[in-house]
Order: sequence, then C-alpha cells, then structure tokens
Amino acid sequence: MRRLLITAGPTYEPIDGVRFLGNRSSGRLGCCIAQQAAIRGHEATLLLGAAANLPPAHPRLRVVRFRTVRELAALLSEHWPSHDVLVMAAAVADCTIRGGEQKGKVRRASLRTLDLAATDDLVAIAAAGSRSDQRIIAFALEEPEELSQSARKKLEAKHVDAIVANPLMTMDAEAISAQVFCSDGRVLCPPGELSKPAFATWLLDRLAEIVVPSSA
Ligand code: CTP
Repeated sequence: MRRLLITAGPTYEPIDGVRFLGNRSSGRLGCCIAQQAAIRGHEATLLLGAAANLPPAHPRLRVVRFRTVRELAALLSEHWPSHDVLVMAAAVADCTIRGGEQKGKVRRASLRTLDLAATDDLVAIAAAGSRSDQRIIAFALEEPEELSQSARKKLEAKHVDAIVANPLMTMDAEAISAQVFCSDGRVLCPPGELSKPAFATWLLDRLAEIVVPSSA
C-alpha cells in the first residue's frame, strides 16, 4: 500500500468578481487514477480543481478542492510530506493577475490589457522539497511532433521521476495515447489508444516499475 497524492483539473485565476483565467482541463484522467489507486488498496488524496466533476466516493479516497494556483500550492505543501507518490495531473496556470483579483466588476474599457505575473512551477517546488523515498510523476500536454523532446526536457528541468506525455488532441478526447518517460531513460508505452479509465488502470499496474528506477 502506498499513499498517493493526485492533483487534477484546472486552476482558475480570478481577474475580478466575475471573470477568471482558466483552461479546458476536465480533470477526468486524474480522477480515474485516484479512483483506481483507492480500488487497489492505496490511500489516495485527490486535490481537485473547482470546475472538475467528483469521482465516485471510496473509503480510501479523500478529495480536497482548489481553485487558484496559490490554493493548490498551499495544499501541496500541506499534503505532500505525508504521501509517497505525487501524480501531478493538474493543469496549472502559467500566469496569474499581477496584484491579485480586482474588487467588483471591472468595466469593459479597462479590460483590454491584463498585467500578468508568472506563477511558480508547483511540481518543481514539490520535487525540490521531496525526500529520497518520495516519487513524482508529472504530466505534459504536447504538440505530437515535439512530444518526446519536450517531455524529456521537462523531466530534467522539473527533476521528476517520470512524465506522462500526451499529444494535444487528448484534451477533449475519449481515448488517449500517452507515453511515459522515466528519469532513467526508459519509455513505457501502453498498447495503443486507451480510454482514460483503461489508461489509469495501465498506469497503476506499472506504478512500481515507473517510480522505482530499474537500476535500483
Ligand atoms: N506544472 C506545475 N506548475 C506550473 C505549470 C505546470 O506544477 N506552474 C506541472 C503540471 O501539473 C504538469 C507539468 O508541470 O505536471 C508540466 O506541465 P506543462 O503545462 O506541460 O508544462 P509547463 O512547465 O507549463 O511548460 P509549457 O507551458 O511551456 O509547455
């Protein structure tokens, strides 16, 4: 049994009282992974974006909601120390509104430009603060022709143990054809296109293989 911390779904960065910067992540794949983890006897904590649908309840699955990058960052610092594996499937905004949310509703004429500030790379921060017994699987959404090069770059830059790389079309698709790039150079490929629940099953079947380098 392992303790898995899974993040899924979009972050929303508020512009004012009625608008936000968001993204199209549904959080479905992360929910399937959390559900599968609980079914297999792991303890799972799912940090789930406010816009994503809840997975079916399970006694070993705990769900905590987040809305903004800042809230997700706070939840990661709270929960990561008590878990063994982080599965970072959340679609984290790369920028937020400088100075934070404006009160009330900003008039249309004042909305032509937004002053943005870069957000922290949350998975890289988690990796920098992790213990030697903890493992991290990150996700990447890539243009198909750049998929492997970009996934390998992110694997190194973020110091994670594996990256699940998905081609861009995965976003609204029922089936996905992800590849898993491991930090020791191995690339694991599922047998063709799989539905999101089937991919979650495949990934959990290989969890030990993915998070424990073959040389260990
Ligand atoms: N991620 C994160 N914090 C961010 C941005 C991304 O923790 N501010 C995580 C995602 O949850 C994912 C991984 O980093 O596990 C890769 O995310 P992706 O959006 O593919 O990469 P970016 O680093 O944002 O690079 P780019 O947008 O240039 O592709």
